Amino acid sequence: MSEAHSHGNSKNMNVTLVVWRQGSSADPGRFETYAAKDVSPDMSFLEMLDYVNEDLIKAGQDPIEFDSDCREGICGSCGCMINGQAHGPELGTATCQLHMRTFKDGDTIVIEPWRARAFPVIRDLVVDRGALDRIVSVGGYTSAKSGRHIDANAILVGKDVADQAMDAAACIGCGACVAACPNASAALFTSAKISQYALLPQGHPERTQRVIRMVQQMDKEGFGNCSNIGECRSACPKDISIDTIARMRREFVVALTAPPARQGGDGAI
Ligand code: SF4
Ligand code: FES
Repeated sequence: MSEAHSHGNSKNMNVTLVVWRQGSSADPGRFETYAAKDVSPDMSFLEMLDYVNEDLIKAGQDPIEFDSDCREGICGSCGCMINGQAHGPELGTATCQLHMRTFKDGDTIVIEPWRARAFPVIRDLVVDRGALDRIVSVGGYTSAKSGRHIDANAILVGKDVADQAMDAAACIGCGACVAACPNASAALFTSAKISQYALLPQGHPERTQRVIRMVQQMDKEGFGNCSNIGECRSACPKDISIDTIARMRREFVVALTAPPARQGGDGAI
């Protein structure tokens, strides 16, 4: 056991990885099996993949491609299906926050990319989540007056409303909700983004156009419809409430009945 792989005092473990390998979106893809030996239970799941990749590179093979950035649960880059669960078995945990102590010595771990029509596989476990960015992008701006600084207390926001907006803003855009949903719906993600502005007075001037555009874009990207199954909520590493979906629906219905000028100018919906 090399020093680099020995963390803490817990006994190291051997696991078998069954990993989805796919060269590009045009490649049909296949599962490959790898032995991950002498893995510290204190390694994060991504460190374990790094460790396996070191051996693959030494053996002249292609490393397993996966996304990561912050490795502390805040950027939304990481994410894969682990034994059929988005981000693995721990609730409220992104893949980068998952530790190998969650698994047992001798376990077989099946690792796949997010599977959704709107998330084409780029390579191995890396998918294109640009569809989520485009939903946010069509949401547009929030009006902000420039000029003299306004007193912070001039716009009163109740504590419960501020808390709900903050909770919705915790969405990191990982896409686990889509991957977990049997319909591949992006309703939890989109509703979180809509809610964080719809709840606050600062988000009200463009509220109507924003919800119409974002819901339309969600449909255009090929995500499925939400049928209130709730798997998204279980998979979400940020515990985004399913109430946000109900809020998005209310916002959308209200927006549809708004005068055409408030729907974005031409009344097109
Ligand atoms: S709602 Fe949760 S699961 Fe969906 S993108 Fe946001 S953080 Fe990820
Ligand atoms: S790497 Fe940033 S959330 Fe996992």
